[in-house]
Amino acid sequence: MPGDPNPNIDLLYKDPSQPMNIRIKNLMDQMTLEEKIAQMAQLDRVAATPDIMRDFSIGSLLSGGGSVPREEATAEEWVEMVNGFQNGSLSSRLGIPMIYGVDAVHGHNNVYKATIFPHNVALGATRDPELVKRIGAATALEARATGIPYVFAPCIAVCRDPRWGRCYESYSEDHKIVEQMTEIIEGLQGELPPNSRKGVPYLGGKDKVVACAKHFVGDGGTTNGINENNTVIDWHELLSIHMPGYYHSIIKGVSTIMVSFSSLNGLKMHANRNLVTNFLKGTLRFKGFVISDWQGVDKITYPEHANYSDSLLKAINAGIDMVMVPYDHTEFSTIMLSHVKNNLIPMSRIDDAVKRILRVKFSMGLFENPIADYSFVDELGSQAHRDLAREAVRKSLVLLKNGENADNPVLPLPKKTSKILVAGSHANNMGLQCGGWTITWQGLDSKNLTVGTTILDGILNAVDPNTEIVYSEIPDSEFVKAENFSYAIVVVGEPPYTETAGDNTNLTIPEPGLSTMKNVCGSVKCVVVLISGRPLVVEPYLSSVDALMAAWLPGTEGQGVADVLFGDYGFTGKLSRTWFKTVDQLPMNVGDEHYDPLFPFGFGLTTEGIGV
Ligand code: GLC
Repeated sequence: MPGDPNPNIDLLYKDPSQPMNIRIKNLMDQMTLEEKIAQMAQLDRVAATPDIMRDFSIGSLLSGGGSVPREEATAEEWVEMVNGFQNGSLSSRLGIPMIYGVDAVHGHNNVYKATIFPHNVALGATRDPELVKRIGAATALEARATGIPYVFAPCIAVCRDPRWGRCYESYSEDHKIVEQMTEIIEGLQGELPPNSRKGVPYLGGKDKVVACAKHFVGDGGTTNGINENNTVIDWHELLSIHMPGYYHSIIKGVSTIMVSFSSLNGLKMHANRNLVTNFLKGTLRFKGFVISDWQGVDKITYPEHANYSDSLLKAINAGIDMVMVPYDHTEFSTIMLSHVKNNLIPMSRIDDAVKRILRVKFSMGLFENPIADYSFVDELGSQAHRDLAREAVRKSLVLLKNGENADNPVLPLPKKTSKILVAGSHANNMGLQCGGWTITWQGLDSKNLTVGTTILDGILNAVDPNTEIVYSEIPDSEFVKAENFSYAIVVVGEPPYTETAGDNTNLTIPEPGLSTMKNVCGSVKCVVVLISGRPLVVEPYLSSVDALMAAWLPGTEGQGVADVLFGDYGFTGKLSRTWFKTVDQLPMNVGDEHYDPLFPFGFGLTTEGIGV
């Protein structure tokens, strides 16, 4: 009967008092080739059942973007789902627990009611690694609230071209800011104990999670920012711009690293043995496991899945340890078995991969605590985390224009006045202010996507009770002129997008944003709040707006915008990205020889000391 103690199995590997290497060896000596190969597979939850987990000893499961037990599932339902699969794994011949992963890239963003933090482009503007570390710790708690011990974060891409659809997932164009923000890893995983051996994966406690630095390497440097495309770069530039984040992540004990879909000088990263094996595992001495991206193996050859067998051979021999398959484990296992039996993949490669996977599972205590409990469910969307997210919103806001000159600032706005107009598509829309990777993979234009405060909610909470707030999403200029408003707050920006869907060559403010700005700002003093994953074309409109701020993608705590708009806190954010004049200047990054921005990297006006 599966799960019954098999008298032929030496259970030493289950003894936590044994040294990890002894446990790994004891277990691997008893694993069949099929079981070793299965540990290298990660399936999406939709392709798995507890019986599959038991019968095949699959190493890992994931929730791809939006892959949830049900809409608005509770933390308890998530725990039950994860445990259901885990009980299957524990019933396998050797009872090796599976590790469940999810993209928690700005909070636990698949999960309804989770705290959604500002995306990384905003966090880069805070210049506050300690804040980001606290966000990591909060995210770990919210992941554990749902029974999940592994997150595919942080993205440490160095986005060098804002036309890239994933630029908002990058902390900065400047690798030094990205390096600083790897502090989030110690928030997620726990702080490395003193004298710990660098490069060894680490996990400190049941309130922490395994992290994943991604996407290795050069994902943010593709030509013209085309997603999953080709990064053309010399060795010096690669090491100085795109690699430092990985040094810092490994030094901080990151347990896993995900390989990029992109190519480097024409070679797919998923097939790049020199960088994945020789450099990452050799030179940098990374001891955790390397995971592919979603169907990243398939994408080695186009059209996708063409000659999967050859792609899998290339990927595994390049040094990938775990494959995000994510659907057909039978095809994966059959081909892998054939490659090993035909000596195309050496057994030493399989053993290296399985050793790394087991090293992470043992070091995180997964064998001792495979079954999640409900002890953290109240952490999901907790007030403490929402307060933290609100702080992050405040610190991420970048003030680009504040009146025609310093002697006549527009901000901070008075809370007590007769009547304020709040306008714009993004003023009262939770989905738009959260952006991609929220509840669904692509995010949603939806007012009540999840729980939080919209920017309008925050304004209503902030102003004097006697101040009248009028909200109109797309007001016409006659209305604005007729109503005699004291001033207007216009909140406009980009729709949600994720990955290739976000690639954009014109970077203009989408309609109805521009029309709303023109209708309102031509008729009353206006403050424009831009909700976007990156700098957009604003130069043509700068003279017609009285104040302009970048709010990026703030997440669920829109209240943080009002905190600064009305002067409860000053503006402190500094651009983590160069703000171009026109897109034909791109790519243009700080330090470039030809550098002629509208607002330079590091720019940000303050309102410290300006009374209201
Ligand atoms: C996606 C992304 C990666 C994510 C993975 C799992 O395609 O490239 O960042 O972690 O698939 O959702």
